[in-house]
Amino acid sequence: MKKKIVIFGSGVHAKVIFHSIINNDRFKFLGFVDHKDKNKTIIKFKGVSYKIIDLLKNLDVIKKFKNLSGIIGVGSNFERSNLYKLVQKKKIKINWETIIFKGTNISNNVNIGEGSVIMANSTLNNNVTIESHVIINTGSIIEHDNFFGKFSSTGPGVTTGGNVEVGDLSHLGIGSTILNGKKIGSNTVIGGGSLINKNCKSYSVYFGVPAKIRGRRKYNKKYL
Ligand SMILES: CC(C)(COP(=O)(O)OP(=O)(O)OC[C@H]1O[C@@H](n2cnc3c(N)ncnc32)[C@H](O)[C@@H]1OP(=O)(O)O)[C@@H](O)C(=O)NCCC(=O)NCCS
Repeated sequence: MKKKIVIFGSGVHAKVIFHSIINNDRFKFLGFVDHKDKNKTIIKFKGVSYKIIDLLKNLDVIKKFKNLSGIIGVGSNFERSNLYKLVQKKKIKINWETIIFKGTNISNNVNIGEGSVIMANSTLNNNVTIESHVIINTGSIIEHDNFFGKFSSTGPGVTTGGNVEVGDLSHLGIGSTILNGKKIGSNTVIGGGSLINKNCKSYSVYFGVPAKIRGRRKYNKKYL
């Protein structure tokens, strides 16, 4: 039987995930859940309108489903973790799904946590650990023995060498390259197109080729 699933969030990232889910025979997609605009159509696809079916402040519609699956379709790491906390607070049991897009190349002994999304044309090599609610964006190459902490993410086309560690809530910007063995702290943002050839501290912004520290950041500062 197909699993009933909702997407939390209804912005650009949610719409990308929608197209993976709607083409996946494992799922029956029910709709989006967001802060506002109940009943608003988010996507029309093959003659069907997919809407916001519930609001985060209520969750009274989704409460009625037993064994409901969910995925958080929010690109910002901080906002994704906030949304997760909000749903937890409501004490509604959601089975957080791992969404693997078509065209990914994932080695046998890769561990991927609940709620994580691995997007099209990404490669995860031997002994990679991806913790929960992580986004590995389109066309990223994650080499052997990498570790990605909770709510971390890559932009499209990121490349990491072997044994890279990325802390919770950190983001590797679009097209960045992380040399093998480098460690990125938590809550840090690596700017698009950067080359990381040294370890990076937590709560910091780095960019450039090679990257330099450009400042400190608060955990909720916008970066996308
Ligand atoms: C690194 C980043 C967070 C900096 O954001 P910010 O603090 O708002 O910086 P600003 O946009 O104000 O730019 C400040 C200066 O740094 C430069 N700069 C910013 N990001 C840069 C980068 N990645 N590489 C080189 N220079 C960069 C800007 O051009 C600007 O230069 P100027 O002062 O000469 O005009 C952001 O630029 C970034 O790269 N975010 C990641 C984006 C991403 O991965 N998107 C994926 C979407 S799926």
